Amino acid sequence: MTSLKATIIEIFQLGSEIAGVLDLPVKYWPLTGQYLPCQRVDGGSDGQPTHLFRVVGDLDVLNLAPIPEDWSPGDRLVCTPPQGHGFALPRSAQRVGLIPFKVSPARLLSLAGTALSQRAAVSLFYEAAPPVDWLERVSSQVEILPLASLQENPDWLDYLAVDLEQSAIPEFMDRINTRDLHCGGQVLVRTDMPCRGLGDCGVCAVHTRRGWRYACADGPVFPMEEVFHVAG
Ligand code: FES
Repeated sequence: MTSLKATIIEIFQLGSEIAGVLDLPVKYWPLTGQYLPCQRVDGGSDGQPTHLFRVVGDLDVLNLAPIPEDWSPGDRLVCTPPQGHGFALPRSAQRVGLIPFKVSPARLLSLAGTALSQRAAVSLFYEAAPPVDWLERVSSQVEILPLASLQENPDWLDYLAVDLEQSAIPEFMDRINTRDLHCGGQVLVRTDMPCRGLGDCGVCAVHTRRGWRYACADGPVFPMEEVFHVAG
C-alpha cells in the first residue's frame, strides 16, 4: 500500500481532544468519517498506527484528531491513504441535520463546512448547550438546537448525519426514531479498529440489515437505515 509522508504543522486543543494540522497533499485528505492511519517516524512508543479523523476547521486546512499526547509540531509521520467510507453529503441536500450523540461534535462539524459551501441550512442537535470553547469554532450560520426538538418538525431535514459509539446505538434508537424523520442519512459508528481493514480480528463488527459488517472496511460510515432498527 502507498506510504505517505507528512509533517505536523500545528497542534491545538479541541474540547477534550488534541487536534493537529498536517501538510498532506489535498488528494490524500480523508472525507469526514474516513480515517487516516498514521505513525510517527522518529522514535516514540508507536506500535500501532493512530487513526486520525477530519475535524472542524476551514475547508482548505487539514485538521485531524485525535493526536496522541506525545506528538509535537514538526514531527514527521508516515501515513497510509484514507481508509473506509466517509460521509457522502448529497449535493442536493439543502437542510442538513448533525447529531453528535454523546460524543464530541468535532467530526460532524467538519461536514458542516461542506454543507454550508453548498448553501445548505445546517442544524446541530446537541444534548445540552455545547461548551463555550466550542461555540467560537462553530460557524454562526450553524443553528444549535436541543436534541429533543428534532422530532418536532420531522419533515424539515433532507439529510441527517449521526456520530456515536457503537455501544450507544440502542440508547440512540430509544431517543430518536429516524424512520419518523422522512430523510436519508448516514451514521459514523465509532469502535476499535485494531487491524485497519484487514478483516483479521472482527473486533469492529457492526450488526446491520445486511448482516455483520466491518467498520474498518465497510464503514465506519454506514447508511442510517442499515444500522438503526436492526432486529436482534
Ligand atoms: S479492525 Fe479488524 S476486522 Fe476491522
